[in-house]
This record gives sequence, structure tokens and C-alpha cells, in this order.
Amino acid sequence: MNPLIYLDNAATSFPKPPEVIEAMLYFMKEVGANPGRSGHYRAVEADRIVSNTRNVIAKLFNITNPDQIVFTMNVTEALNLVINGFLKQGDHVITTSMEHNSVLRPLRYLEKHGVITLSVVECDYKGRLDSHEIPPMIRKNTALMVLNHASNVCGTIQDVRAVKQAIGDVPLLLDAAQTAGCFPIDVEADGIDFLAFTGHKAMLGPQGTGGLYMREGLTVNPSIRGGTGSISEKEVQPDFLPDMLESGTRNNVGIAGLGAGVDFILKQGVSKIKEHDKNLTAALLSALYDVAGVTIYGPLKAEEQTATISLTIDSLLPPGARYDYGGCGAVNLELMEEDVYPAEAGNILNTEYDILVRTGLHCAPIAHKTLKTFPEGTIRVSMGYFNTLEEIAIVANAIRRIASREYS
Ligand SMILES: Cc1ncc(COP(=O)(O)O)c(C=O)c1O
Repeated sequence: MNPLIYLDNAATSFPKPPEVIEAMLYFMKEVGANPGRSGHYRAVEADRIVSNTRNVIAKLFNITNPDQIVFTMNVTEALNLVINGFLKQGDHVITTSMEHNSVLRPLRYLEKHGVITLSVVECDYKGRLDSHEIPPMIRKNTALMVLNHASNVCGTIQDVRAVKQAIGDVPLLLDAAQTAGCFPIDVEADGIDFLAFTGHKAMLGPQGTGGLYMREGLTVNPSIRGGTGSISEKEVQPDFLPDMLESGTRNNVGIAGLGAGVDFILKQGVSKIKEHDKNLTAALLSALYDVAGVTIYGPLKAEEQTATISLTIDSLLPPGARYDYGGCGAVNLELMEEDVYPAEAGNILNTEYDILVRTGLHCAPIAHKTLKTFPEGTIRVSMGYFNTLEEIAIVANAIRRIASREYS
């Protein structure tokens, strides 16, 4: 039995810092009350914990007013809140060809029902967006740009500031699912109008947590109305944040854990986490770069991506030939034939090596079309703060053996 190596952090991070589990246990055992609902001391303590989480998230993203943050179940809910609650009949939206289905599906739904029109900026074969391609797409009725900060498929990080500069006054909704917690995000300096984040990936919180920040002055129509614990004498929804968008009892146990996760990140420092991720990525890229049969997608530069690497195991190209075809990447895919299919490779890694990765389309088919890895998808190795260089060496060796059919 090999020691377990968890490399599926882009799906959800594991393990969590012990502080996260302790904070959740504390809430369950010692607090247990509903924040903002009652005046007794347990409810006050619950309220303090929830406020603390809002405050540390505000600190992480340089948000001046923590009340501009609302808690959601995940980033999908945060993205849907803006897409369904901010856009109006006749609006035009711009997005990219590297988005997750959490962005594309709600946008395509509104498009199909005649509510919005949609333009998709094509990214290159490494998943990079050229912000100069955006201005010609802007129309009088362009109401929103939705941007994936970093690809969950191949890690490519987009230049948010350049995009904001290109769109000017058009509000920017950033899907920070893959960057929140492991890459610096500053809503002021980056010009982010809506920041959608998930709590259970690099923010190190539990599943069922996430949130949305919105710049003061922007309004999102609630999709759910109900009890908020505030202005209870009125039969209409509060018109102030966060209550306007936080009806019903939240996942307060999870929010307690998320606060501890963000506390942990602030103590470590995002730059230290980013550096660790970069070292792991550089090590895996250099270990796999020359392996015959392995094609890696994305920027292939640790400083231009998150700690997520996608690869396929192909045949036909001779060892070293990838350099002649422009290095790794999808430019030469028509010459290739997938030899060990992603699902099979993932299964071998899982059963033979106790290495947990994700294979397939990773809920982002449009990104695979961009990378030319549709429909089979890729083997995705996604590293996190608790992975080590020793683990990366073991994984690289396992992939090398699979590529040379020596795994059994
Ligand atoms: C870029 C991106 N957007 C959205 C999501 C959806 O995340 P969640 O399931 O936490 O809502 C993910 C998760 O994989 C993602 O990587």
C-alpha cells in the first residue's frame, strides 16, 4: 500500500488545516446558535464568528466594506446571482473560451431565452486571452464581462488588470474559483466589480461555502427572499447588503471553518502559498517535459499558471518531437493519437499508485475545445499547499511509467 497522494485540489482542497476542523467543531459543540436571529449570548457568539469570516475575507481581497460580501454555497451560486440578478432584457455580455460551465450554462440559458446576447473571445491554444481582442466586441448595450481568472483545466492565469483596462466602464465579474487563496487578488487595484469565490478550494474551507463581493453602487436582484433577522416588521426584503442576498439560515458551521481557512492563509501569506505552488508546478513541468508520449497543455511556465497541469499520453510523435512542433500544447494534435486514454491513466494512478487525480472534461468543455483536447479531455494533476516536492517526484515517475507501459 502506497501512501495516498491527493492531487485533485482544483476540485476541492484536501487536507484542510486542523484549525478549520477545530473551528467547525467549536461552532457545533460550543455555539450552535443562529447568528443575527436571537439576542442570547450563543447567538451573539455565532454572529461574531460569521462577522469574523466576512472580515478576514475582506482583508484577503482588500475589500473596504465587509458588508459588500455575501455568503453563498459555492462559486456557482455566486456567479448565478450576478448573471441572473444583474443582467436585464436586451443586455450584451462578453466572456471567454476558457470558462467553466458554471459561467457558460447560465449565460447560454439567458441567451437561448432571448434575454441577452453573448460574445465569446477566443483564447489561444495555451488558454491565454489577448485583452486587445475585447474592445472591438464592446457594444452600447454591453452590460458585463465574465472572466475566468485561472483555468481549472490547465492553470492559465489571465491578466485581470489588462482586461479591466480593455473594458473600461463595463462591470467585470471575475470567477476566482481557482485563484482565491493562492494568488493575490485586490478588488481595488485589479478593478474587480464582482468577485465570485468558492470556499472549499484554495481558501481551504469546507464544501458548501463561497461568496460574492460586489462593488458599492452595483445592485443584484435577489433570487431568494425571506427571513434575514433584520427589519422583521416589514414584509419586503431588506434593500441593504448583506441581508438583501442572504435570506434563510446560512451554512454557519461551514462559514466558521472558512474563516479559519482564511485566517490560516493570512498567517502564511498568499505570496508564500503562491511560491510553494510555483515550485511544485515547476518541478512537475520539468520532470514531465521530455517524457516520450506525454503532452502537457497550458502555458508550461510555472509563473503564468496555477498549480494545475493537464496532460495526455499519446503515441505517434517520437521522443523529443514536441519541441519541433512548438513545445507541448495542442498545435500538432492532428498528428497524435491518444494512446492511454485519460480515464484509463487516472484509473491506473488511483489503483496502482494511490495517486488521486481527475480525468475527463473537468466541467469545462469549451476550454477543451480551445486546447484541442475535446472530447476525451485530459489527465489533470492539481497540486495544493500541502503537497510536497517528494510527492511530485513520485507522481512524475508514475506518469513516466504509464507512458512507457511499465506500470503493471
Ligand atoms: C473555474 C471554476 N469555476 C467554477 C467552479 C465551480 O465551483 P463550485 O463547485 O465550488 O461552485 C469551478 C470548480 O471546479 C471552477 O474551477
